[in-house]
Amino acid sequence: MCGIVGYVGHRPALDVVMAGLRRLEYRGYDSGGIALVHDGQMASAKKAGKLANLAAVLAEQELPASSTGIGHTRWATHGAPNDRNAHPHLDDEGRIAVVHNGIIENFATLRDELERAGHEMLSETDTEVVAHLVRDELEKTPDLSDAVRAACRRLEGAFTLVIADAQRPDVVVGARRNSPLVVGRGEGENFLGSDVSAFIEYTREAIELGQDQVVTITPGSIDVTDFHGDPVQVTPYHVDWDVSAAEKGGYDWFMLKEIDEQPQAVADTLLGRHTPEGRLQLDEMRLSDDELRDIDKIIVVACGTAAYAGHVAKYAIEHWTRIPCEVELASEFRYRDPILDRSTLVVAISQSGETMDTLQAIRYARQQRARVLSICNTNGSTIPRESDAVIYTHAGPEIAVASTKGFLAQVVACYLLGLYLAQIKGIKYGDEIAAIIAALEKIPAGIQRLLDEGDQVRKLAAELADSRSVLFLGRHVGYPVALEGALKLKELAYIHAEGFAAGELKHGPIAVVGDGIPVFVVVPPRARDQLQEKIVSNIQEVRARGARTIVLVEDGDDDVVPYADHVIRLPQVPTLLQPLVATVPLQIFACELADQLGHDVDQPRNLAKSVTVE
Ligand code: F6R
Repeated sequence: MCGIVGYVGHRPALDVVMAGLRRLEYRGYDSGGIALVHDGQMASAKKAGKLANLAAVLAEQELPASSTGIGHTRWATHGAPNDRNAHPHLDDEGRIAVVHNGIIENFATLRDELERAGHEMLSETDTEVVAHLVRDELEKTPDLSDAVRAACRRLEGAFTLVIADAQRPDVVVGARRNSPLVVGRGEGENFLGSDVSAFIEYTREAIELGQDQVVTITPGSIDVTDFHGDPVQVTPYHVDWDVSAAEKGGYDWFMLKEIDEQPQAVADTLLGRHTPEGRLQLDEMRLSDDELRDIDKIIVVACGTAAYAGHVAKYAIEHWTRIPCEVELASEFRYRDPILDRSTLVVAISQSGETMDTLQAIRYARQQRARVLSICNTNGSTIPRESDAVIYTHAGPEIAVASTKGFLAQVVACYLLGLYLAQIKGIKYGDEIAAIIAALEKIPAGIQRLLDEGDQVRKLAAELADSRSVLFLGRHVGYPVALEGALKLKELAYIHAEGFAAGELKHGPIAVVGDGIPVFVVVPPRARDQLQEKIVSNIQEVRARGARTIVLVEDGDDDVVPYADHVIRLPQVPTLLQPLVATVPLQIFACELADQLGHDVDQPRNLAKSVTVE
């Protein structure tokens, strides 16, 4: 949600900021804007809609040359997504320009106060108050960073702010509380961005910013303090992917590219996690073996697709460790007074590492003394920073709003966690763990086969493009796969889609089954005999009521074929690992159907890549 860019250096700031905003488009937005410092003046332009609209404005209203600038893509919270509410926002004199991500919770009080003091507000946003506050503070101090710090001390809520002052060329100031902001270190130039993709084409050297910190960048310096001006220790890091990873590379959609990258994402997430003798080693596991041995309850907290990865994990973790594992939507978790103590391990799953509900859930868990481990794809993001331990997934940057490779990598990381706990607790023998790891290492080849056979799924999507409703059924680990299949279709194709545990069918959902409704069914591997028989009955039940059945079933299993209108073959894998293959055709189906319907596959309507407000 909201993309932020700041730049000072030797290049044309307009180009750097616009390029950064384009790379941040994936976060989701509904307007864009830019401000440049030139000759003691602030020049700005903003426009509702896609960045192409802003570019059109810039083509008409030429901004002066400048090497200091800030930019923003806005995902509306306070105020409609129109030109007026687009960022940057300026103070009355047009001297201070502010862009913001987050929600300033006390903005109404501040706005009243500022209006009473004679300031005129031009927008309905919470952000605009900051420009006026900073301007007022500049009456008390000549230093922009001091003024920003003083303003930040008055703000409540979540905010990343990036601020420029017309009278301070070569300086941009950023601040962060709860929302993401990273610094890019260049040679004679420095950058600020909501994430590293904002500046990855110029530098791969980055600095994490902590909670309640203010950063001041000039072409030759980066100074970080807390909100009171005390210097703080920062953590520099090197980004291990390059600009090509954040580009489409010949694909029509990032999502297609990311679906195709899944064999690599799974392989990379497994890479280097075990010794030649088969013993698991998790380098980022900052919890000691003793602490892990004490764990007697696991609660997974996450949102959306990441929560479905958690649902898959529950089956594997409980089976392998015998530790009770609950899965909870992060947005519900802290409001229900969960029972937590030192021996509870809260596992936060988040691709972006910035999802506000998940972040607030782990903060709550830590206050209650639980230990927190995060599974995350984004180095330097807030959730792993605030966790006791982290397992990074190595999926590479995920740009499409709909998570694909992020999901598979999360599931793999959860399996690694389950096996690691089983190893520490001595519940599984080393050879048992090694056998599961060996099966996991074969998964990339299985995914690749499904990708190679993707055309049949694409053909099916074309045939079903007129569907108004699609159902997904699964049992055991196939159930979260069904939920994920339905979510993908909903968010991309805007079609009503629901996933059910197949056993629930007769308790209600079967009422919606009627003539021609497509029903996808994930059939458990034959090794799970009991489940297999039951799901065969479920397929017959929906078919008898006119459903068109699309059955995902492993190679060699022909029992369901007589009841299937369409069969999608899956490679044979152990039952608990089946989600890693069964999800792939459902991703391809949703992506293709959305494309057939002419939707923007990478940026579905109303959605943002990382949801940084509650
Ligand atoms: C769906 C999707 C979302 C995210 C959810 C959590 O395709 O991408 O449901 O999974 O917003 O995001 P992260 O994993 O960044 O916390």
